[in-house]
Amino acid sequence: MDVPGIALITGAASGIGRACANAFANEGASGLALLDMNQEALDAVKAEIEASQKQKGNTNPVRVEVFSANIADESRVNEVVEEVAKTFGRLDYVVNAAGIAMKHPGGAAFCETSDWERILNINLTGTFFVLRAAAKIMLKQEPIKSSITGRPLQRGSIINFSSIQGVVGIPLSTAYTASKHAVIGLTKTASDDYASQGLRINAICPGYTETPLTTKSPEILKAMVERVSTMVPMERMGRPDEIADGVLYLAGGRSSFVTGSNLMVDGGYTAR
Ligand SMILES: NC(=O)c1ccc[n+]([C@@H]2O[C@H](COP(=O)([O-])OP(=O)(O)OC[C@H]3O[C@@H](n4cnc5c(N)ncnc54)[C@H](O)[C@@H]3O)[C@@H](O)[C@H]2O)c1
Repeated sequence: MDVPGIALITGAASGIGRACANAFANEGASGLALLDMNQEALDAVKAEIEASQKQKGNTNPVRVEVFSANIADESRVNEVVEEVAKTFGRLDYVVNAAGIAMKHPGGAAFCETSDWERILNINLTGTFFVLRAAAKIMLKQEPIKSSITGRPLQRGSIINFSSIQGVVGIPLSTAYTASKHAVIGLTKTASDDYASQGLRINAICPGYTETPLTTKSPEILKAMVERVSTMVPMERMGRPDEIADGVLYLAGGRSSFVTGSNLMVDGGYTAR
């Protein structure tokens, strides 16, 4: 795959973010900045990647640095993104995977303001904070070329995490569905701002994927298992590494003419 350079991955301590961190390491990134609120789990992912590189006998292993941060904390996000650029010298890819989910029993009429604000603050505003800080750095750096075909690649590539719930509604998910629709809007408008300057911004929309997000809450898991059996044409959940492959495509040179799009990786869910 075609991902030379430096990647910042949020939500890298678990699930899809962790799979993305491993995927970038395996597919040629030279530096990884892993951001999450969970320092202990971040350290474990760093150790996992370093052990895997060693096992493969990689003589030029990827450099991995971890950053403990809440993406909803504006000043901390600015500080970390600047530190990443200083540490690695540039920033080529941002994978905005940090996010949370919640069901509202009873639906929209019973969605608590505090729950609404928490979900929007992290999934939408946090994604915006990371995008904004990274775009400021990317816009100032020289573009790199695709390592596979040599075509002009990009000044930077940002992948925001939406969801199937960015394009369709699912019951009892008021705040999450609103946040993921908004991430697609953010992606489209920001991509248009910078398309002519070689900064590409796309969204990925995973379907039901087996991660702690979907399996740790009995309510979310129950709803998901029911829907997977009846609503997903492929009749199974996705795996985190299947989502990471979509992210690699959007990040690297194979998608050099793709910006402002949302890539559905959902086993056919939204095709029905
Ligand atoms: N798993 C699915 O079925 C699915 C489907 C569609 C979209 N998504 C999206 O994919 C992304 C990754 O989800 P996942 O399933 O891997 O979840 P996960 O819970 O396994 O991992 C999310 C990570 O984000 C981190 N995080 C949460 N809030 C944070 C914050 N404020 N600041 C920094 N880090 C924070 C968590 O600590 C965790 O490590 C999310 O944006 C989610 O909405 C997941």
